[in-house]
Amino acid sequence: MSYQVNMALKPEVEAFFDPATNTISYVVKDPASKSCAVVDSVMDIDYAAGRITYDNADAIIEFIQKNELDLEWIIETHVHADHLSAAPYIQDKLGGKIGIGDQIMVVQNTFGKVFNEGTEFQRDGSQFDALFKDGDSYDVGSMRVFVIYTPGHTPACMTHVMGNAAFVGDTLFMPDGGSARADFPGGDAAMLYQSIQKILELPDDMRLFMCHDYGPNGREIRWETTVADEKAHNIHVGGGRSEEEFVRFRTERDATLDMPKLIIPSLQVNMRAGEVPTDKDGRPMLKVPVNTL
Ligand SMILES: [Fe+2]
Repeated sequence: MSYQVNMALKPEVEAFFDPATNTISYVVKDPASKSCAVVDSVMDIDYAAGRITYDNADAIIEFIQKNELDLEWIIETHVHADHLSAAPYIQDKLGGKIGIGDQIMVVQNTFGKVFNEGTEFQRDGSQFDALFKDGDSYDVGSMRVFVIYTPGHTPACMTHVMGNAAFVGDTLFMPDGGSARADFPGGDAAMLYQSIQKILELPDDMRLFMCHDYGPNGREIRWETTVADEKAHNIHVGGGRSEEEFVRFRTERDATLDMPKLIIPSLQVNMRAGEVPTDKDGRPMLKVPVNTL
């Protein structure tokens, strides 16, 4: 697959950090128009109380309104397991199409079983407005965006490349953070390594934007780096580390990790494109499958 890289195209990127989930959401603006996209928005949840609020999403909406931008796309780099997407809330207020990788169907099948969903839960990705395949492109105003299929962390992970800015989701973390886990159902460390190689084949000065940062070793939160920096310094894959080494390391490390605190609500909501499921009376309701995950 050869991708249509255009380093001369330089979108404006505004980041929004959510300290509750260490997620970074982005508004990406076409430099030649008022059009923009949102990448990986966050809906706030107090899981203990079963309470959902929208402070994070409202900050994004306010930014878009203040700058009089037209929201064309609301992108999910993958089905997140650690935070809930605010895509439908933002779409209600500002419009735009919700897009994700077409392997969402695999994720929906897997977790449809985990949560014992009935037949009313469609496993065909139809909750989303667009499903992307490797090499697909779409436009944000006059800005041509392309997607790279980068599975491994999950089966539906996509990297979105907007000019000289690539939104890598959870394939990579900052160089001192390494890479994301590959042990969720459908995850695969060898596949993750191959996906990371695809990203590292982009031009050295491609800007890379992370979905998460945890400030390792007490450093301040950061979310932007470059291909060159990751190639040289990434603690899991930098310096030409082999696939075999990576898989061994990643597998051992993943075996020590606890489940993300919000995995149970996140998957139920995110596999529905950010809609909260409802019970038979139409009330918003989440399930907790016992001894299943
Ligand atoms: Fe993730």
